[in-house]
Amino acid sequence: MRKVTKAVIPAAGLGTRVLPATKAQPKEMLVIVDKPSLQYIVEELVESGIEDIIIVTGRNKNSIEDHFDFSFELEKTLERDGKDELLEKVEKISSMANICYVRQNHPKGLGHAILKARPFVGDEPFVIALGDDIIYNPETPVAKQLIENYEKFGSSVVGCQAVDLKDVSKYGIVAPARKIDNKTCEISDFVEKPDVEKAPSRLACLGRYLLTPKIFEYLAKAKPGKGGEIQLTDSILDMMKDGEKVVAYDFDGERYDIGNKFGLLKANIEFGLRNEETRDELRSYLENEFNIDKK
Ligand code: G1P
Repeated sequence: MRKVTKAVIPAAGLGTRVLPATKAQPKEMLVIVDKPSLQYIVEELVESGIEDIIIVTGRNKNSIEDHFDFSFELEKTLERDGKDELLEKVEKISSMANICYVRQNHPKGLGHAILKARPFVGDEPFVIALGDDIIYNPETPVAKQLIENYEKFGSSVVGCQAVDLKDVSKYGIVAPARKIDNKTCEISDFVEKPDVEKAPSRLACLGRYLLTPKIFEYLAKAKPGKGGEIQLTDSILDMMKDGEKVVAYDFDGERYDIGNKFGLLKANIEFGLRNEETRDELRSYLENEFNIDKK
């Protein structure tokens, strides 16, 4: 079995749900406490053993490349001023992984974005981490959990959690079949954003996948699905129908949907309460100064 060392982050979306914040900057660069959201995802991947990351971008996404690049002037200035701690933080960003970029150039959907990474991924199993989903687990990052399951079962893995019934139409929903263990089951169907009445379950794919390279064969011949877009969900289902095993894994971790305004605010508050520098002040503000009745 091949070691999983590659990951793809699709980051070409327009971020319309958080406009106007995303008018001139990528949604992946919106800040959560002191880091752009994309950095949380890159760190999760690196901590999971990923070495090569392919970010699928589009127009107006140049600041992503700048952020993960070496910044000569900044690093020299921090060094000159003796700001060692900051220097270390900045240096780490450009050295933690081998990151390369490919442009999607036509917004044809998530499946199409993943297909763009094919020449870089080649014939290897790989992780997909969607930029809207930050998943917090300080013990075992979610990508690592997926890799462990891939190593255990030798099959593709879709990272899932149960969502409220009213929310099923926002996600790819799996129909669970035979239980494999407490956290893993086989899948009998996979539907992209079903209507509430038609949803096969409440088990939603929440932005993490580990797929074998076989998926590219299906993405290459995929037809537009929900919303007229090439859907990754549909290609995973097609691959399963041809006998390729895919399991759903109920991952451990707290997920933040930062592609919408409330999710971004929630992430900022909760990560702010975890961050050493902001924790005490934020807690005291929320407990003592912030009076919701007066707002
Ligand atoms: C995408 C996928 C969907 C998945 C979701 C998780 O949808 O198509 O299957 O459940 O991400 O966040 P999007 O939110 O990009 O429309």
